[in-house]
Amino acid sequence: MIKFLTTLAIATIAVTSHAAQKITITGNDTMQFDKKEFSVKSGEKIELEFKNIGKLPKIAMGHNLGILKKGISSLKFGQKVMSLGANATNALPDGSMEDVIAATELLGPGESETISFTAPEAGDYQFVCSFPGHFAMMRGIMVVK
Ligand code: CU
Repeated sequence: MIKFLTTLAIATIAVTSHAAQKITITGNDTMQFDKKEFSVKSGEKIELEFKNIGKLPKIAMGHNLGILKKGISSLKFGQKVMSLGANATNALPDGSMEDVIAATELLGPGESETISFTAPEAGDYQFVCSFPGHFAMMRGIMVVK
């Protein structure tokens, strides 16, 4: 029993002292994420920094990054947010967050935001920019192992 508790305590320390996995993704004026795919481990704490490195005004070329729940297609999600009334100042209207694990605000040129979340169960998760129409180009996959 003591051996078990000791093992448990060591395991807990190992988990809590494990630094968050940091990931940086950029978006630009040609509607491109610099990463189309990244991998994380299930249960890992993730700090994802998203930067808009473009120069065009937010109203014309704002970007966000939203990680979608398992099984949600970025193409279908992009169409859904437009049908819910997404626009250049509100890219995630009411009703869209139910499909989202974590998302940044819509960012203008030079802006960045870091979102934190725990990597869900293993599988592929799509991510997308939900600025109206950008889902056609700005899509990628988070692979959870
Ligand atoms: Cu975008």
